[in-house]
Amino acid sequence: MEIKAIRGFNDLLPDEIGKWHFVEETARQIFEEFGFSELRIPVIEKTELFSRGIGEATDIVEKEMYTFTDRSGNSLTLRPEATASMARAYLEHQMYSFDPVAKVYFIGPMFRYERPQKGRYRQFYQIDAEVFGVSNPMVDAEVIVMLIQFLKKVGLENLELQINSLGCRECRPRYREELKKYFATKTFQLCEDCQRRLQTNPLRIFDCKVETCKDAIADAPQVTDFLCQDCQKHFDKVKGYLQEMGLTYLLNPRMVRGLDYYTRTAFEVVSYNLGSQNAVAGGGRYDNLFQEIGGLDIPGIGFAIGMERLISLLPAEKTFLQNPQLFIAALGEETQMQAYRLLSQLHLQGIRAELDYEGKSLKSQMRRANKLNAQHVLILGGDELKRGKAVLRDMASKSQEEIPMGGLLDILKERINRD
Ligand code: HAM
Repeated sequence: MEIKAIRGFNDLLPDEIGKWHFVEETARQIFEEFGFSELRIPVIEKTELFSRGIGEATDIVEKEMYTFTDRSGNSLTLRPEATASMARAYLEHQMYSFDPVAKVYFIGPMFRYERPQKGRYRQFYQIDAEVFGVSNPMVDAEVIVMLIQFLKKVGLENLELQINSLGCRECRPRYREELKKYFATKTFQLCEDCQRRLQTNPLRIFDCKVETCKDAIADAPQVTDFLCQDCQKHFDKVKGYLQEMGLTYLLNPRMVRGLDYYTRTAFEVVSYNLGSQNAVAGGGRYDNLFQEIGGLDIPGIGFAIGMERLISLLPAEKTFLQNPQLFIAALGEETQMQAYRLLSQLHLQGIRAELDYEGKSLKSQMRRANKLNAQHVLILGGDELKRGKAVLRDMASKSQEEIPMGGLLDILKERINRD
């Protein structure tokens, strides 16, 4: 039986990869302009990093991690997200001793055992950016501005920025208690999972998609009514900076995010062109994460963009296929060596050149050149070659010219670069 890929794991084929490269290159360019550097993290970490970092009572840790025991009996996990690993790397390499402020980004696949559907996969790519070591709300605005700038630069439209504040260690426990009291009066409406969440982590009830739970959520107390003075001040400043930058946002007091490390600012960018999985990006501040994973008291803020969702929103007219600049159509056995030599020279000069390996008829070679959308075709063979000439055809204008075999490479380079 033919072996197929695992459910929820996708191949990215050559005809779509141009979009991925475009998105990745734009991210690198913009993030580096904002002072971020790449930090590459491993695919696998100790399970404890995620269970402590993301939180035991989250869906990710409870039921979505790819966890296994290695040959030495260690419990390891394929990273379900990047933030905890980035924070671990910052601590492990004492990056703070050089400069307490670190701005880092990472692009790579994440793994979650979720039910696959459009926009939700078990291996998916994220573009992740984090700032460690700054508690000033100015940086909250700065990362949001960078995110929006990037999304605009790649051509996304009709996006909505939603923000919320989730409070801190001081004020959130009070909110949690209020929530517990509220949902305790609604237990008959809550699904089995939410009844459990009510005991372990009542904030997670907000993420539930079950209709009766959604009804129960409708009148629940809002976190923003319970913020302590410092959190309120922080949130007001973030909003002020965003307004200063001319960014419009929607306050969404129901947005709690699916990871437990968040404190204060939380945000998502949603697109109404995406269907049910409508979050293109999400992030927020996590001032306790470093301590949760056994480190120093260091604040942090960041976001991650879902690449599959982002790419599905790119304008359709954008094609990123790299077509050949020159297609060599060589006729007859005796021209093969010449064609091969020319092809190699063109590649060494950085020109996208192709040839036909089958030595077929001119007609079928022209058909292939057309299919590949080649810009020019060089015909080697026939009477012209006997006269020391080759024929260069411009595929767009359909004009042809004879060019001498001596000095062929220079003329080709000149013609190709002229277009
Ligand atoms: P997250 O909200 O879990 O946050 O994921 C961020 C984005 O990744 C989502 O908005 C979505 O676009 C994409 N995504 C998540 N799960 C899937 C999936 N199963 N299939 C396809 N796309 C998916 C985090 O991961 C945080 N680490 C973000 C962060 C960074 N917060 C602070 N710094």
